[in-house]
Amino acid sequence: MATNVNGAALDDSPIPQAVQKQSKQTVDPYNVSGEVGEDGVVKAIDYNKLVDEFGTKKIDDELLARFERVTGKRPHHFLRRGIVFSHRDFELILDRYERGEPFFLYTGRGPSSDSVHVGHTIPFEFTKWLQDTFDVPLIIMMTDDEKYLFSEKKTIEEVQGYCSNNAKDIIAIGFDPAKTFIFSDFDFVGGAFYRNIVRLSKHITLNQARAIFGFNDSTNIGRIHFGSIQGATSWASSFPHIFGEDESKTVGIPALIPCAIDQDPTDFRMTRDVSARLKYQGKPYAKPSLIHALFLPALQGPGTKMSASIDESAIFLRDTPNQIKNKINKYAFSGGKVSAEEHRIHGGDTSVDVAYQYLRFFLEDDEELERLKVEYESGRMLTGDMKAICIKELQKYVAAFQERRAKVDDEAVKLFMTRRPLQWRGNPRAPRV
Ligand code: TYM
Ligand code: TRP
Repeated sequence: MATNVNGAALDDSPIPQAVQKQSKQTVDPYNVSGEVGEDGVVKAIDYNKLVDEFGTKKIDDELLARFERVTGKRPHHFLRRGIVFSHRDFELILDRYERGEPFFLYTGRGPSSDSVHVGHTIPFEFTKWLQDTFDVPLIIMMTDDEKYLFSEKKTIEEVQGYCSNNAKDIIAIGFDPAKTFIFSDFDFVGGAFYRNIVRLSKHITLNQARAIFGFNDSTNIGRIHFGSIQGATSWASSFPHIFGEDESKTVGIPALIPCAIDQDPTDFRMTRDVSARLKYQGKPYAKPSLIHALFLPALQGPGTKMSASIDESAIFLRDTPNQIKNKINKYAFSGGKVSAEEHRIHGGDTSVDVAYQYLRFFLEDDEELERLKVEYESGRMLTGDMKAICIKELQKYVAAFQERRAKVDDEAVKLFMTRRPLQWRGNPRAPRV
């Protein structure tokens, strides 16, 4: 079986969940699993432990209150519910916003297949909301090269095909073309971007890359180098068509990177460390800030993330209402008790109940969500009822997505992916319309 750098299955060879040995929790860009106990059962991912291990900060009420004061906007339900739960230097971005100083948003997608699932939309939905809130440029990277390097079987032509389809899915989230640039690594590497990639790679040793990603002697060298490409996108000076040619000005403009927590090692541990050491004509490089989301769990439970390579773990954006219903009814892990009688007496456990957990992501009404929690935990509400509500909400979410997606054509992809100046408030270079 094909394995990745850590010995886990590659994305085109599903991980057989039942045969995992006892092991520690692992979360990096290529591997996500909760701790496996002596009984071979995968535990829920312990996000507090990740915050400690990675050295990030939890988003607390104080930060949310400041966010609301500075932006005048009620925090998104992902923030209110601790779904976007951790950050690095998000305060510095709020400082800049308050002072009217520039920054930008950066996020990305690895086009590994045409099967985008509802977990992938989480960071993108949140990014759109941040773009609407801050009115700043957004850069979306499509790492087609990564998906070629990290797959045994895929050809370059295949990943490039996925890239334009995935770009349509991303555009369908609702990004503003005047403020958004989407690029593919295969097409965009060169010029200022390539200079930054090489600058970054010069400051990363093989030892560091190994420590971060667990590479070994048989890892192909393209994979080892890839982190510098994803990292160099955090620097505004990689995009002179957006921020201008003058590097002495652009090196100081930081990115805010919304992503799920698996991406933290690539963008942070390396790029932030290197940024702190680099100067351009005596001016320091801005370190990127990050803001992290939890994973939408797999249907099988909170021990791992929803994954496109394991069909029965995921609700895909192309699924029909019936497929959504059948998958949730058949696979969604239940926090309910073994019999209705016991459930009525002891109540269910919402912390592991997948239908409830999905509702935390997709049901916007806080009061209704609280009511479901109370009803379920008291035993008055049964698993089947929770699943029925979850099915309805997901059907609604996916149908709305599909309606928008049907309107995205090749022209739109071309527009978003063309090198061009962007327009945003406070940009002195923006063309006036
Ligand atoms: P990729 O394509 O694996 O994932 C795209 C984004 O979706 C997040 N994600 C999830 N979020 C919640 N629940 C899930 N089950 C789930 N599965 C995936 C990922 O964390 C990511 O934010 N190398 C990257 C592409 C990339 C990137 C970036 C991502 C390049 N630059 C900067 C974030 C920020 C990749 O393959 O992502
Ligand atoms: N043409 C309008 C203006 O001059 C709109 C506009 C141009 C704009 N660039 C912008 C609005 C950037 C918001 C952000 O104001």
